[in-house]
Amino acid sequence: PSSRIIAIDGPAGAGKSTVAAHLARHFGLLNLETGAMYRALALKATERGIPLDDPAALTALTAETTIALTPGDGANRVLLDGRDVTALLRTPEITAAASRVSVHPGVRHWMVAAQRSMGQTAPTGVVMEGRDVGTVVFPDATLKLFLDASVEARGDRRFLQTGVTPAAQAEDRDSITRDIAARDERDRTREVSPLRPADDAVRIDTTAMTLDEVLDRATALVEAAL
Ligand code: C5P
Repeated sequence: PSSRIIAIDGPAGAGKSTVAAHLARHFGLLNLETGAMYRALALKATERGIPLDDPAALTALTAETTIALTPGDGANRVLLDGRDVTALLRTPEITAAASRVSVHPGVRHWMVAAQRSMGQTAPTGVVMEGRDVGTVVFPDATLKLFLDASVEARGDRRFLQTGVTPAAQAEDRDSITRDIAARDERDRTREVSPLRPADDAVRIDTTAMTLDEVLDRATALVEAAL
């Protein structure tokens, strides 16, 4: 493609967002978090009381929706029909709802079209992060990274980000790990564009790596690819 596209895919908690934000800053690329778009649509469906297992209603909803991602402080700011919903998208309820709306082919079709147009029109080139960027959205991406880690390591990292009190810790850690495993299972087994590494993706298993090691490796790969 004419535009430089770095695709980053992998399961929840593998470090995609951190790596994407770093690469975007380091190489001056636009960072686009596709998961935030599924979250925004899930929010709209939830607000309107649309059942998350109704493909026809959700696909119809996409036709009257605009979702824009703009550069934020590391993460994207998300405009849903012009309204800044960034602060509403990371609750457990919306996280679970996003996972459920993302299985529907009509929803994915709409998302992929929007993501392609955002990627193609970015003059700087983009880092696009998600589950199907290297396999479906941009199969001709300049570089594809697939980040993975054991489910325990991913649960622990998510848990550490929440910063809860010691009393709640053990239970929280287990429930976060269970949630992640359930979302992965849904992503990996859905019929349309299941989560999997593209054949030509560079796989990085971060289970035993420090954050700095992961960032160094990703940076070197992008350096060589651009
Ligand atoms: O990456 P994030 O956790 O924000 O994504 C939320 C949900 O959106 C994921 O659990 C996944 O089911 C879905 N998703 C997807 N395809 C993408 C990005 C996210 O199906 N490209």
